[in-house]
Amino acid sequence: MSFLDQIEPLKQAALSDLRAAPDLAALDQTKGNYLGAQGKFTALMKQLGSLSKEEKPAAGKLINQAKVELEAALTERRAELELKAALPKEPTDFTLPGRRRPLGRLHPLTQVTEDIVRSFRKIGFVVADGPEIEDEYHCFDALNTPADHPARDTQDTFYVASPQKWLLRTHTSSVQIRVMEKQPPPVRIIVPGRVYRRDNADATHNPTFQQIEGLYVDKHVTVGDLKGTVEFVFKELLGEEVQLRFRPHYFSYTEPSFEIDFSSPMVRKMGKQWLELAGCGMVHPKVFENVGYDPEIWTGWAFGFGIERIAMLRYDIHDIRLFYENDVRFLRQF
Ligand code: DAH
Repeated sequence: MSFLDQIEPLKQAALSDLRAAPDLAALDQTKGNYLGAQGKFTALMKQLGSLSKEEKPAAGKLINQAKVELEAALTERRAELELKAALPKEPTDFTLPGRRRPLGRLHPLTQVTEDIVRSFRKIGFVVADGPEIEDEYHCFDALNTPADHPARDTQDTFYVASPQKWLLRTHTSSVQIRVMEKQPPPVRIIVPGRVYRRDNADATHNPTFQQIEGLYVDKHVTVGDLKGTVEFVFKELLGEEVQLRFRPHYFSYTEPSFEIDFSSPMVRKMGKQWLELAGCGMVHPKVFENVGYDPEIWTGWAFGFGIERIAMLRYDIHDIRLFYENDVRFLRQF
């Protein structure tokens, strides 16, 4: 067979071997078989020197073209095989359940609220709800709050421009009225919810915050029931070592009224002896009259406190605004 006639079949054989190489090792082997020092194609090139002057140019051109083709095929197959090697050996089953922890979690205020609700449920309370946009009647009048009370002032209350004087509720106490209007006694509710005040934001105030209201109405309810309930819940929430103190106070919707102060190792670490935590008292007879309950038959207690305050105590947080900035570096810690 003439020299020229050998080039094409050898090239075809080399191309098909290169393209058929099943992996990178086989490819290197095939490359060696043809283009290595002892390779078949190399051997053919070596023969070029022994050709006559007339034959040499055409043969040289052909053999160079063949070499370029082989090298291109080699590069292409190498890229394919490298990609194949990088892919997972087993096919991926996308229906398998995820093994990572779920992304995201509940906001710390939601966690604290759920804990408070859980404690109250243990002793028979149910969650009630009411509107955040309220009227003056439910937020103030029905709660026996006098028309000239400073809390109604536009300094404290956000009024919604409207002929009916709608406002954003300043406390969850409005829901006491809404619930009692709708159902006969006995009542045993808690009301977690958002409230609004025209406070300027600083480390301990925010124009919107969350409260929990509690209301218990039955026959023969006493201040002792109130104290026992509040102590049970706060010890569950903040630990057995907490101490509570009931200090006389004034609220228009309770008589007598108290503020509940709280002490714990954490409070003392903050350099204080007592921290004010909640307002409470025995439901005022006027309030019962306003909702149509007979104050000669029914007695009850109520309380209200801020959820942020509890969360700040529990997690040793000193700036309320952190709860509302939604900085994930903060939120991830809970
Ligand atoms: N509404 C009061 C406040 O926002 C808290 C409060 C005090 C609620 C006494 C009550 C209560 O139910 O009896 O500061």
